[in-house]
Amino acid sequence: MEKPNIYITRKIADELLKPYKEKFNFRIWSSENRPVPRETLLEEVKRADGLLCMLTEKVDDNILQHAPWLKIVANLAVGYDNIDVHAATKRNIIVTNTPDVLTETTADLAFALLLATARRLVEANHFIQNDQWEHWSPFLLAGADVHHQTIGIVGMGRIGEAVARRANGFGMSILYHNRSRKRDVEEDLQATYTSFDELWSKSDFVVSLFPLPEETEPLFNASTFGQMKSSAIFINVSRGQTVDGNALFKALQRGDIAAAGLDVFKNEPIASDHPLMQLENIVCLPHIGSASVATRKKMIDLCLRNLEYHFAGHDVLTPVK
Ligand code: DGY
Repeated sequence: MEKPNIYITRKIADELLKPYKEKFNFRIWSSENRPVPRETLLEEVKRADGLLCMLTEKVDDNILQHAPWLKIVANLAVGYDNIDVHAATKRNIIVTNTPDVLTETTADLAFALLLATARRLVEANHFIQNDQWEHWSPFLLAGADVHHQTIGIVGMGRIGEAVARRANGFGMSILYHNRSRKRDVEEDLQATYTSFDELWSKSDFVVSLFPLPEETEPLFNASTFGQMKSSAIFINVSRGQTVDGNALFKALQRGDIAAAGLDVFKNEPIASDHPLMQLENIVCLPHIGSASVATRKKMIDLCLRNLEYHFAGHDVLTPVK
């Protein structure tokens, strides 16, 4: 039997592909940093039986139309808003993602961002680099406490739970909102289910782990920010499309909320001259939520195992449903 042709949209270290080379013919985009151009992808999918892609690739109906042999799309992310799953399903193409393996790493990053924003770590680092540190003084770069404050988690999925476990360690009170109530989490992690309104008004930290909804209106908008405490800190590690960027900018500029820590943006990469990037009460990261070396290797391997399982005639490990 001929080996399935797999197209990989980013250069991946040979050592990670080696265990799978006997099973697959790989074709691989040449760059590790630059996404594959759309025209190249349209050309490459023509002969692909499987596709291993990144969140930078928009796998829409047009791509799928060009892919007569395609059976499976393995997305290197837990989120899959870059893929038209409906169009894939209509064509009997399986879509997989990478849940679980990135949960703890992403929760680490969410908490790191929360701490960095509250305690003004980036500003403090720039302060020294810019030669501004002349004297110690009692309120020099004084920030907000994290311990024993109230955290409001929006989206109590796997990553939300992992953030809540970290919040427990800091003695925080935990509020959450989720599509469905999670009694086990409430009991295990002493978390309290609240309405959105209550979460906005009572939280010192609002952490968005909200999956990208089908509807177009961003959940975090002028009205949402208007209901938060003026001392509130907003953290987003889900998707940039959940936030109205202008409303966030105004809320931060006017002091309606105290600060924001963002790992994701509506349009990535965000330009360095974007108004949000000019604010001091913001910490921004280039979408590195799951970017530890160990976790990225596990995510790649999970994609490859999904491809392996599928072409061996088994159910894939992590289908998108
Ligand atoms: C995901 O997995 O969806 C992240 O955003 C990428 O690390």
